[in-house]
Order: sequence, then C-alpha cells, then structure tokens
Amino acid sequence: MKGQNLTIGLDIGSHAVKICEFKETKSGLHLMSLGSARLPDGAVDDGELRDPDAVAQAIKSLMKNLKIKSKKVGISISGYSVILKKINLAVMGDKELEEHIHSEAEQYIPFDISEVYLDYQDLKTSGEREDRTDVMLVAAKKDVVDGYLEMLKSIGLKTVLVDVDAFALENSFEVTSKEEGNILLVDIGSSKMNINIISGGASLFARDVAFGSRQLTEQIQDKFDISFEDAEALKTGAQEPGDKQKDIEEIFVSTTTLWAMEITKAIDFYNSNFPETPLLKLVLSGGGARVKGLDTFFAEDTGIPVEVFNPFVAVTADDKKIDPEYLQYIAPEMAISMGLATRPIPF
Ligand SMILES: Nc1ncnc2c1ncn2[C@@H]1O[C@H](COP(=O)(O)OP(=O)(O)OP(=O)(O)O)[C@@H](O)[C@H]1O
Ligand SMILES: [Mg+2]
Repeated sequence: MKGQNLTIGLDIGSHAVKICEFKETKSGLHLMSLGSARLPDGAVDDGELRDPDAVAQAIKSLMKNLKIKSKKVGISISGYSVILKKINLAVMGDKELEEHIHSEAEQYIPFDISEVYLDYQDLKTSGEREDRTDVMLVAAKKDVVDGYLEMLKSIGLKTVLVDVDAFALENSFEVTSKEEGNILLVDIGSSKMNINIISGGASLFARDVAFGSRQLTEQIQDKFDISFEDAEALKTGAQEPGDKQKDIEEIFVSTTTLWAMEITKAIDFYNSNFPETPLLKLVLSGGGARVKGLDTFFAEDTGIPVEVFNPFVAVTADDKKIDPEYLQYIAPEMAISMGLATRPIPF
C-alpha cells in the first residue's frame, strides 16, 4: 500500500514533543495525524535527554492517543552535541571524498572522532572556482544519539532516521513551497532558535542560538515572583495580564529585540557573502512565532518581508479527524516534525 514509506515525524523539543504522520496519495501528501504533548520541565535540555523515562512515557501516550500504528520514527537532534560545519574542498570523486572526510574530520570537529557519528553532503556549490566544492559536515555525539535511540526502543519504536533540526526545518519548507530565491528560516522554540539560510535546496548558513520563548516565561516569573505555569499563562495570553501588562510588554520588547539582533547578525553575514542576491523573505516557525506582532516587528527591524510558516498549506487533511482551527493554530510549531514526517523511510 502506498503511504507506508514515510517516517513518523517525531520532534522532541525541550517544551513539547510533536508528532506528524503523512500518507502519500495520488493528489499529494495527506495528513493522517498530528499532535503535541508537553514534557516535564528539564526532561530535555540543550538537546540532551535528561529524563528518558518521562520523555518515553509522553511519546508513548501521544502515539496511543493518535492511534498511530507504524513504529518507524524519524527524529532530529540539535544543541551542543551536534556540529554543522561547511568546509570548502577540492572537487573529488565520491569514494575519495568519503576517505578524505574520514581521515581529515578531526581538524574540523571539536570532538574526538571516535565519539561522534559523522555524515556529510557535497553541496556542489563552488562559488567562483569550479575546482572547489562546499561540503556540509555533520557530527553528532554518539552517546547523545544512542540515548535517544535506546529511549525510543524502550517503547517499541524503531528509529529509521536521525536528522538535524535545521535540515528537517529546511525540508519542511522545501516540501511546502516551490518558491525560488534565498530564504531565511527562523524557528524559535522554547530554549533555542534555529537560523538557517537556504538557497536552491542547500543550506548556506545554519546556526542554533540559545534563545527562545522560555526566556519570556522565566522573566515574567522572576518579575512577579509567580510559578512557571502562571508566568506561561500570562505569556501566552491564557491569563489576562491586568495591571501587569506594562511590565510584560517591556519584557517582550527587550527579549524580542535580542532575538532580532541574532537574526540581523545572520543577515549581515549573508549580505557580505552574497551581496548580489538579497534575501527574499524570512519564514518564522516554532512556538515562539506565536508571540503577537513578532512578524511585523522582525519585518520592520530587518527590512525583509516576514511570514509565519504554515507547513500544512499544501497538504490535505480530514476535517472530521483533525479540527481545521487546531491545525491552523498548531501549524508553526509543527514545522520540524512535518519536515521529518515527509522523509522517506531510508531502508
Ligand atoms: N502565544 C505564545 N506566545 C509566546 N510563546 C508561546 C506562545 N505559545 C507557545 N509559546 C511558546 O513556544 C514554546 C514551544 O514551542 P516549540 O514547541 O517550538 O518549542 P520546543 O520545540 O519544545 O523547544 P526547543 O526547540 O527550543 O527545544 C514554549 O516556550 C511556549 O511557551
Ligand atoms: Mg523545537
């Protein structure tokens, strides 16, 4: 049967686990199920599994609620345990390149090579010189990756794909939009923001910054000496701010200004390297994209058009199974799980 060839996209964030499942049909991708479950505070930190049992339980019950039968999941990792590095090499054959990477990787990666899983992709972007090529190197700490694999195995899941957040995000965008041009993807999660500049299917610049929407919650919590949950409710608007409004606004302004500065740094880097091709737009995703007015603020601050990403605009879904309003609401933070769920099962 068609449709059994895609992975279950499992995005294990520090705030919540997000799951997407698609089926391929004659008319394109069909969204079978999606959902999100909060994780206990600290269960995932800087991309590392701190409380595997709690995360396993959250995933298990979410899969059960969504009635997902397939066991083949795709995950992505991020944080300090992953290094993305673009290197420029002389053009060489596939076999030669593989040997070169494995013998020379040590000089590019700040970890012991025996402690990492190593992968790479020849981007075939040479710039001016035809005898050179850019190669994206990816190194991920084995113990961290193995921790995820074991946790998932403990609940009967088979991990068939380990991706990197930045590339899953890129895939999500490329599956959704056929747009040409160079685009700045920014995913603002709870504890990190991922900045990725893409051009014609390749990543020109990818970076994680330890900023995210959790900063807002923590500052609101500190300011009013309230619980994390109460601060979260004030932040998301679930609770009326009342006389706290002005202080909360100040927290939003100062923090989102820091976010904008990180984005500007990436844009400056881009503009100095690719002065001829201005960025087409900034595409915003992650739970942080829900901050009211953030798109307008970023657009004014960077001078680049901003849109909030909806990874489901080009797919079909059953309105009776998935509430369209919920789908619209949850869309920005499903970007990475969507990017994973649209990857074919590699074996
Ligand atoms: N309306 C809102 N305004 C501001 N922040 C919000 C809003 N709604 C949700 N968020 C925040 O978005 C974050 C969750 O987003 P997301 O699911 O993308 O994060 P994550 O993937 O779990 O985290 P990370 O990628 O950083 O590990 C939480 O910090 C949550 O409070
Ligand atoms: Mg995330």
